[in-house]
Amino acid sequence: MNDPGPEPEARSDADAESVEVAEAPVVPASVPAPKIYLGDNLAVLATLPDASFDLIYIDPPFNTGRAQRRTPIEIVRDDAGDRTGFSGRRYRTIKLGAREYADAFDDYLEFLWPRLEQAHRLLGPRGSFFLHLDYREVHYAKVALDQIFGRACFMNEIVWAYDYGARSRSRWSTKHDNILWYVRDPNHYTFEYDAIDRIPYMAPGLVGPEKAARGKTPTDTWWSTIVSPTGKEKTGYPTQKPLKVIERIVRVHSRPGERLLDFFAGSGTFGEAATRLGREVVLVDHNPEAIEVMQRRLAFASPSLVTLQPEPEPEPLPEPLPPLPTPLPTP
Ligand SMILES: C[S@@+](CC[C@H](N)C(=O)[O-])C[C@H]1O[C@@H](n2cnc3c(N)ncnc32)[C@H](O)[C@@H]1O
Repeated sequence: MNDPGPEPEARSDADAESVEVAEAPVVPASVPAPKIYLGDNLAVLATLPDASFDLIYIDPPFNTGRAQRRTPIEIVRDDAGDRTGFSGRRYRTIKLGAREYADAFDDYLEFLWPRLEQAHRLLGPRGSFFLHLDYREVHYAKVALDQIFGRACFMNEIVWAYDYGARSRSRWSTKHDNILWYVRDPNHYTFEYDAIDRIPYMAPGLVGPEKAARGKTPTDTWWSTIVSPTGKEKTGYPTQKPLKVIERIVRVHSRPGERLLDFFAGSGTFGEAATRLGREVVLVDHNPEAIEVMQRRLAFASPSLVTLQPEPEPEPLPEPLPPLPTPLPTP
């Protein structure tokens, strides 16, 4: 989902419930080589066999772009407008109302649905699926996933709460993402309780020194800061997610040696977490820049690259023949 803006940090409420997940994992001596695909994920997924992954995580973009193209706009003369035209005349852009929203919604689910179906098909019998979205789309996506996976397969809505950037003066500042967790089988799934990192108690004085030293397990609200704009982790890819949040998913919902998939891979955060934790990972993105970043980021594990050529555009249909002359009426 879209990242919060790059404004300077105002204050870290994250301290209220300290948040940092365990330290970066020690890289095993030999790690499985990640496989990276360049291409549209729907086309790539169609080539992969049923039930071939133990954990799938995706973080799709909010907007596929198609809705934006279709947003009807009108430009009108307005001295206070936001555009400048010929001879310095000012114009204002009017977005033509409700169609913009309806289009965005229709297109988004239309785009996402077949990909969610593929995720379901590709999950192994104990597999988990994580869908990372934000508050604008999560409810539609949940309804879709309830239909595709079945309501009984819904396990948690994880709220990743961060605290970064400017505050709104007109509504509560939105500082969280939503991550939906579904399983293939609600009676058999991987949940490595002992691999959960511990976090400090909010009031350690109330629990005694032993418990306070051990810390507690997190709830479904995960406080963790975004990728620091000046930190070592930053790749420059705009929607990069923090390694620590993604590592927690990998650690708890899969085991070393298992096969993992992220088909909206971006900068490869999931790929890095999976590889460093000794999992075999397949990553897909259609953006060559994302592929470049991933190749750099995962160079320590010698990733392989497969490029899926897009289908050639179909030949345009020939011009229709002119209509036949109307036959003369027979006398
Ligand atoms: C929000 S970013 C993922 C960020 C990633 N989680 C990270 O930490 O860097 C979504 C990615 O999906 C890719 N994407 C969007 N539509 C796609 C499609 N149809 N096929 C493959 N990749 C796609 C975009 O290029 C973008 O890199």
